[in-house]
Amino acid sequence: MKLKLIIGLVTVSLAATVLAVNEPAIIPQPQKMEVKEGAFRLLPETRIHADKLAKNAAEFLAARLRKATGNSFRVDDKTGGASGIVLTTSGADVSLGAEGYTLSVTKDCVLIRAATSAGLFYGVQTLLQLLPPEIYSPKAVKNIEWQIPCVNITDGPQFQWRGLMLDVSRHFFTKDEVKQVLDAMALHKLNTFHWHLVDDNGWRIEIKKYPKLTSVGAWRDGVGFGQATNSTTAYGRDGRYGGFYTQKDIREVVAYAQKLHITIVPEIEMPGHSLAALAAYPEYGSGPGPFIIPLKAGINPGILSPAKEGTFEFLENVLTEVFALFPSKYIHIGGDEVPKGPWKKDEACQALMKREGLKTEEELQSWFIRRIEKIVNAHHKTILGWSEILEGGLAQNAAVMDWIGGGREAASQGHDVVMTPTANCYFDYYQSRNRSTEPYSIGGFLPLQRVYALEPIPAGLAPDKQKHILGAQGNIWTEYIPNLKHVEYMAFPRLSALAEVTWSPKAARNYDSFLRRLKTNEQRLDKLGVSYRPSALGDGVAEFKIGGWKPEQIKAEPAVIEWDVTTKATKAGKVSVNFNQTVGAQGINVAWAALLEDGKEISRDTHAGFSGSADVRPRRPDYTLNVPVPKPGAQYTLRAQVVGSGGTDSQGDVCWLSVPPAKK
Ligand code: ACM
Repeated sequence: MKLKLIIGLVTVSLAATVLAVNEPAIIPQPQKMEVKEGAFRLLPETRIHADKLAKNAAEFLAARLRKATGNSFRVDDKTGGASGIVLTTSGADVSLGAEGYTLSVTKDCVLIRAATSAGLFYGVQTLLQLLPPEIYSPKAVKNIEWQIPCVNITDGPQFQWRGLMLDVSRHFFTKDEVKQVLDAMALHKLNTFHWHLVDDNGWRIEIKKYPKLTSVGAWRDGVGFGQATNSTTAYGRDGRYGGFYTQKDIREVVAYAQKLHITIVPEIEMPGHSLAALAAYPEYGSGPGPFIIPLKAGINPGILSPAKEGTFEFLENVLTEVFALFPSKYIHIGGDEVPKGPWKKDEACQALMKREGLKTEEELQSWFIRRIEKIVNAHHKTILGWSEILEGGLAQNAAVMDWIGGGREAASQGHDVVMTPTANCYFDYYQSRNRSTEPYSIGGFLPLQRVYALEPIPAGLAPDKQKHILGAQGNIWTEYIPNLKHVEYMAFPRLSALAEVTWSPKAARNYDSFLRRLKTNEQRLDKLGVSYRPSALGDGVAEFKIGGWKPEQIKAEPAVIEWDVTTKATKAGKVSVNFNQTVGAQGINVAWAALLEDGKEISRDTHAGFSGSADVRPRRPDYTLNVPVPKPGAQYTLRAQVVGSGGTDSQGDVCWLSVPPAKK
């Protein structure tokens, strides 16, 4: 009996290995896939048959096949036959939803069925990924067997919002560069591009009624953020740094995205992050000024004033032009990181608060957002704002983009939510512990595996409210990312992981399988000329890990944990000690970290740090310590004070790195 069981297990694991080797490398992993014997051979004479709704998907497919094979691949509407490649709505399974499809491949026929043009398009994306990666080549490749394995696939996404945000304010990306980003999104069945069009450092969208928004607001005196002047080509004729999209450009990009079944959600930041607008139209500002476009982050002498009627007229006029350009239901109105100082010192704002019975500046912010919501709703659109729009009370119909919490609370109240927690979705963070081999970044640490570990539904959200979690998106803030190649390096492969998190059912998600499939995906990106970060580079954790912590060391009360670092403290200089949770529903709070020499403390860094999966305001779990010239024979110890945050199930790694030479 026992022997039989063991034999049985061996058979199963062998079968799993065989499957892994032959596993088609589709990202995101389809809901259901059955791989069969044999293959369909794509021949020069293969025809594509598409009915009316499938025309766009068929032309997309044909264009890609033509480019890579050099053959003509005619598209016709004779979908009745049983040979060639057929794309049809006929017989589609409507229960697969607005983006679902089925794909069956036999030796004679490739059949994609979907009820919608989006579903047909996603069927085509999967079909392309069943072909050799050379199918993504920009020119004809010879001597390839263009075979498609026989499969039966039933597929559709888990979430309706599968997104990427690109900040084009801190650094500007041309419309053609944006199109390249959209292309790479479409490959991964991502469907929402959040275009962060304005911020303190640049206004990037032409508004006809307010020409100074771009003539003044789109340009600054240098690339800024300590970036080299040759790190970008976004300069105007007068040599100033910046750029903007004309309304014609915007229409072109929106139409391009529509063909890829990507909705573009524009963001017009208010009432903070508005210095570029105020540099052009200071009359709508509150604060001491001067309102000058800054060359770095963190300088904010002013925000929009809610105490001036003109501000609302200005914003309504701007939004009216924005609405005419973007068919999206949502308009993102920012609302994050509004410094309340200017309103506190502004007599008109204080008088307004008194008049309206508002006790705090947070309530004033809420009052401001509610007024904007009325304007937006009157235009039949819905506002979406960052976590902070919850402060002082959420506007009636608003949706929330959770970056520092509030998602669960908003969804519980029946508001729609998009999850972008810093711990899993901030693609401007470092991808490796080894900062010396990475391009200089804003900070943080977001390895690939942690993106893959995201569960978009917040823990503890009642089942009947989970439908309010629309999905998730990766955010690329570009303070330290001045060109497209660098954007791509930060986006991939993390965006590939996010695509799988938002599309594939949990049961179909497996990190080892994802890493295997990623190897093929990297070949695709190579052909497309996308400058991804090779997954083989890893996350540097093993290289720098000095130890870790286990749940039994984490208490509800602050406790001290120690690690022997004698073999690490061998060179005088600064080191950075990082705490990185790998397992746990919540996280840990770190109060301080210290270095001891023979039991005597010699260096300490005290600040609140957090590492974990809970979506709370980011607090750097990185501590800088000074290592002295080592004393021969001395014992060195790292000590930290740690407490469980909302639980004691945390487990993680502690890394020790030399601090790289300072950059500007
Ligand atoms: C944000 O990262 N300030 C939304």
